[in-house]
Amino acid sequence: MKTLVIVTHPNIETSTWNKAWVEELKKHGDITVHELYKAYPDQNIDVAKEQQLVEAHDRIIFQFPLFWYNTPAFLKKWFDEVLQYGWAFGPEGTKTAGKQFGAAISTYGTAESYTAAGFNRFTLEEILRPIEASVKYISASYLPHFSVSDSSNASEDRVKQSAVDYVRHITTVKPVQA
Ligand SMILES: Cc1cc2nc3c(=O)[nH]c(=O)nc-3n(C[C@H](O)[C@H](O)[C@H](O)COP(=O)(O)O)c2cc1C
Repeated sequence: MKTLVIVTHPNIETSTWNKAWVEELKKHGDITVHELYKAYPDQNIDVAKEQQLVEAHDRIIFQFPLFWYNTPAFLKKWFDEVLQYGWAFGPEGTKTAGKQFGAAISTYGTAESYTAAGFNRFTLEEILRPIEASVKYISASYLPHFSVSDSSNASEDRVKQSAVDYVRHITTVKPVQA
């Protein structure tokens, strides 16, 4: 199982969580870490290169900080440009079929706030539905997400533990049954 992690964080140098996760991922030689802002500082995506990267891996994880209940805009651009008709969907679009895709996110909101009765009213499963639906649309399997909530509560122990938990999650998680 070859795993690709696509990291989209506009300020990874000043990040706590996503930066720690990237550092942990890089200790694992069997995981490919692809940082979109580093690869494309001008946000000009090389679509053929991205498609080759996806084709070369079985499991693809989108790692990002939650921005306005969504992906950072650059990751949305990646979806819009890379997941093309004739490649990911449509009669000849079979390159993503059978692969596994998932998300790993950090949120400022607490776990309690991401419940029906909480401040944010919706669960993270619900907020991530556009990714889940897109993954199904490209004939791939959706993986349960990994998340850390309450990002301002960033003790060294909590950050370190989450990085270890994250790698364990993405190396052991099984697709959600349709
Ligand atoms: C533009 C912007 C929008 C944000 N929107 C949300 C949001 O909708 N929900 C939330 O819980 N946190 C939101 N946040 C907080 C970030 O998700 C949080 O700072 C980040 O996950 C922390 O991770 P890091 O240490 O890797 O930067 C937002 C932050 C920014 C800069």
